[in-house]
Amino acid sequence: MIRISLLPWLVCLSSLAIADSAGYPHLRKQGGVTQLLVDERPFLILGGELNNSSSSSLANMEPIWRRMADSNLNTVLVPLPWDIVEPEENRFDFSLLDGLVKGARKNHLHIVFLWLASWKNGMSSYMPIWVKKDFNRFPRVRRRDGSPTEILSALGESSSAADSNAFANVMRHIKKTDAREQTVVMMQVENEVGILGDSRDRSRAADAAFFGPVPQALIDRLKLGTVPELQARWQKAGSKTTGNWEEVFGPGAETEEAFMAWNYARYVDRVAAAGKAEYPIPMYVNAWLNESGAKPGDYPSGCPEAHVMDIWQVGAPHIDMLCPDLYAANFTERCELYTREGNPLFIPEMNTNDAGARNVFYAIAEKLAIGTSPFGIDRTTPDSPIAKSYGLISQVAPVLLEGEAHRDVVGFVIDRDHPALERVLGGYDVEISLDSVFGHTAQLGYGVVIATGDGRYLGAGSGFRVMFKPVTPGPSHAGIGTVEEGRFVNGRWLPGRRLNGDETDQGWSWRFSSFGQNISKCVVYRYD
Ligand code: DGJ
Repeated sequence: MIRISLLPWLVCLSSLAIADSAGYPHLRKQGGVTQLLVDERPFLILGGELNNSSSSSLANMEPIWRRMADSNLNTVLVPLPWDIVEPEENRFDFSLLDGLVKGARKNHLHIVFLWLASWKNGMSSYMPIWVKKDFNRFPRVRRRDGSPTEILSALGESSSAADSNAFANVMRHIKKTDAREQTVVMMQVENEVGILGDSRDRSRAADAAFFGPVPQALIDRLKLGTVPELQARWQKAGSKTTGNWEEVFGPGAETEEAFMAWNYARYVDRVAAAGKAEYPIPMYVNAWLNESGAKPGDYPSGCPEAHVMDIWQVGAPHIDMLCPDLYAANFTERCELYTREGNPLFIPEMNTNDAGARNVFYAIAEKLAIGTSPFGIDRTTPDSPIAKSYGLISQVAPVLLEGEAHRDVVGFVIDRDHPALERVLGGYDVEISLDSVFGHTAQLGYGVVIATGDGRYLGAGSGFRVMFKPVTPGPSHAGIGTVEEGRFVNGRWLPGRRLNGDETDQGWSWRFSSFGQNISKCVVYRYD
């Protein structure tokens, strides 16, 4: 198998984007770690996504903004529907957008707008009525039996032009009204695109493209190397470097999915490019993840699934991230899949429940996600699990973002099936395991540990303990010097209890009790 590193190519692409966007919110890639910069400072999105219709009324949003700020969020993912922004062709109404930005600012929150336009969850219910009614100018997907659908075809030239025009106007307006404050930090382009109920569009334009040649740029990427799933499909069909979609990938629903992925990517790229030409802030797409055993069309066919991520990257170079809507139980595996091919992790949708509140530690501190955003955040209150997790993470975020650059950070969720992990961090072998005291072992543990230099560590979380072993030359044993509990207020450390005795297992380990969540600092020393 040919496998050449794509990194130089991807780094080159991202530095091009940065050159255009310095001064605005942008992504900075350094040493393989991508961070979001807002006001030129690293910014970790502790976000939540609103239910779909909440932001259509400013009055409805009034109490929600306050609650989000009180629940330790710093960013809200807010739907921005095309049909509200452009009720008549080329007549734009930005009063909702302006009111939302104002509401967020009043509560010191940032916004990621979700541009709900040509597609949302595979359907096209957010396109304005003037688009819906003009089904000749804006063609729809055809099913196998020729019957029409309410899904816009990704091959409709006038559709992508109309969506791009609207999005360009939106981005021009955001630049004019927000480039200084930077309340809006990123844009999601469309939402969970793809075809439901069939594996590909069967309109005349789609048939012609499907039986036409696979684009050269995609062939070049196949030759360079891709994720193994796509590579395997191509090799099984004979590693051809010319031919139509069935010739290059073989017949079947998976090939039709690859074809749709390409066409959605091209369409979305046109929209994103038009937006970035006005205001080049980071833009991403999100994926409705396939369940195991499901076929393309059971989930939106052409969605930016992990197994077609190279197709999306080649087809949509103006999209900075492919993002999983991660409700699935195998959270860590899915994060792994979405951090391949240089893709930075951002999770625009996930669960708000206890599991979600634990998983944010893993995503942010282990997979170095630029942020997380549980879905349906509206009803979250300051005493909810996610608010508590964000409360801890927001305090350690400045140190965490600093540590990310050197990869001196570990984030984890442990349980009875995976009770421990080991990592070299800050010059010690760090063993993290479920906390255990007086014969009682915690069921679950989660948190973050950051090496801050010279045998010093900062940790946050619950239900775990940490033990150290030296890995560099010198005295061969490590002991716990001091452990100090505390919290950060406006970035300043306010010490609380000095922990010792039972609270450090008589000096054997740095403990985070499963009763509540804590932040503490530990100093490690060595002896012989
Ligand atoms: C995923 C979609 O992206 C959201 O807009 C919302 O419809 C949720 N599903 C509902 O669970």
